[in-house]
Amino acid sequence: MAKKTNGNYLSGKEIRAISKANAKEMKRLEAYKKRRASESEFLTQMKNNDNILEIDDLHTFFFTEQGVVKAVNGVSYDVPKNAVVGVVGESGCGKSVTSMSVMRLIQGPTGQIVDGSIRFKSSEYKLDEKGSPIPKADGGYETEEKVYDIAKMPIREIHRIRGKQVAMIFQEPMTSLNPVFTIGQQLDEVTLLHLPGATKEIAKAKSEEMLRLVGIIPENVYNAFPHELSGGMRQRVMIAMALAAEPRLIIADEPTTALDVTIQAQILDLLQDIKNKIDGSILLITHDLGVIAEMADYVVVMYAGKVIEKGTVFEIFQDPKHPYTIGLQKSKPTMTLDDSTELYNIPGNVPNPINMPTHCYFKERCAMCTKKCSGDYPGMVQVSPTHFVACHLYDEEKNNG
Ligand SMILES: Nc1ncnc2c1ncn2[C@@H]1O[C@H](COP(=O)(O)OP(=O)(O)OP(=O)(O)O)[C@@H](O)[C@H]1O
Ligand code: SF4
Ligand SMILES: [Mg+2]
Repeated sequence: MAKKTNGNYLSGKEIRAISKANAKEMKRLEAYKKRRASESEFLTQMKNNDNILEIDDLHTFFFTEQGVVKAVNGVSYDVPKNAVVGVVGESGCGKSVTSMSVMRLIQGPTGQIVDGSIRFKSSEYKLDEKGSPIPKADGGYETEEKVYDIAKMPIREIHRIRGKQVAMIFQEPMTSLNPVFTIGQQLDEVTLLHLPGATKEIAKAKSEEMLRLVGIIPENVYNAFPHELSGGMRQRVMIAMALAAEPRLIIADEPTTALDVTIQAQILDLLQDIKNKIDGSILLITHDLGVIAEMADYVVVMYAGKVIEKGTVFEIFQDPKHPYTIGLQKSKPTMTLDDSTELYNIPGNVPNPINMPTHCYFKERCAMCTKKCSGDYPGMVQVSPTHFVACHLYDEEKNNG
């Protein structure tokens, strides 16, 4: 890949070299994505059987004219069964690109998963030799567990998990609901698509059950169109839609940002309530540390395309290790701040994503940096069975990469 001759400008020759290198790489990755492959090529094993999702050294890049944006640059974190994992970090640090990679919604050819694994434990209907689900004596159908490496799945196979096993609640529900179909039609569709043998009546009953679960009286909403509902109601419908397929993992990316404060609180209460009712896990992405503190069991802190700290919610809030996480805690507004107290603001900016340094990405903003910090990027240090941090201050505690 071409390098900049100086910090600010690229020559025409350099731009052409970048374009050529990018085009070649994008072509290779697109062909890999669109290939046909037997299931054995993307079946794998979980590292820890208690997890539902294991993101392992994920690299997702955007091949732009200016160079390669390493939006997700070696991210690893797990989502255990029946747990809520919160992901926090500054705008642009790669939270959404990581979750969109799990859903395989990264827009090619510019955006590509370049390396790493996304292991997901799916539970699906067992099929007989004719490809039909096998009924169980006590009702329902036989299921089997399979572990897929989503990163290696050809895109044509993604229907096995997207929407059904992994559902996503987006920030802006209006963009995800179809304006020309009623709420009932859209909800029924989920059941008709995913439940073998589902009739219209079964689908309607399920849709109504889901609407009730999210606090909506079905009679008022089932026949309504999306534009007839308020933002809060639409977000509830989105949650009902995500739940209708009975997914094992729900990804909620800033699910309340587009809503006003009162509705935000209601939606969060709803998610909290659902967390206890469903047999699944939630990956919750948000800027809001208060929401994380209330909802999450585990927290992942990202910075500039990397995970810089992860641990239980208690560890991250009571004993944050990374100077960035410590800064985040300080920058959170609290009820005890009086008018004269200025909100702490971490000074400085994130480095240019196209030209990342080889040392710690937080160095230019870090008040605790030492001589060592000008050296290599810090490795992950384990400070407790569940707590990890990437910072040279803890190198002496290093006992596990
Ligand atoms: N289509 C794209 N082309 C080029 N760069 C992109 C594209 N989409 C995302 N990026 C870059 O990837 C990086 C990570 O973006 P991402 O959306 O994951 O951030 P985020 O952590 O979700 O931020 P926010 O909190 O603002 O939602 C950013 O630097 C962004 O500019
Ligand atoms: S490695 Fe150094 S610069 Fe980076 S966060 Fe730790 S102390 Fe600060
Ligand atoms: Mg985002």
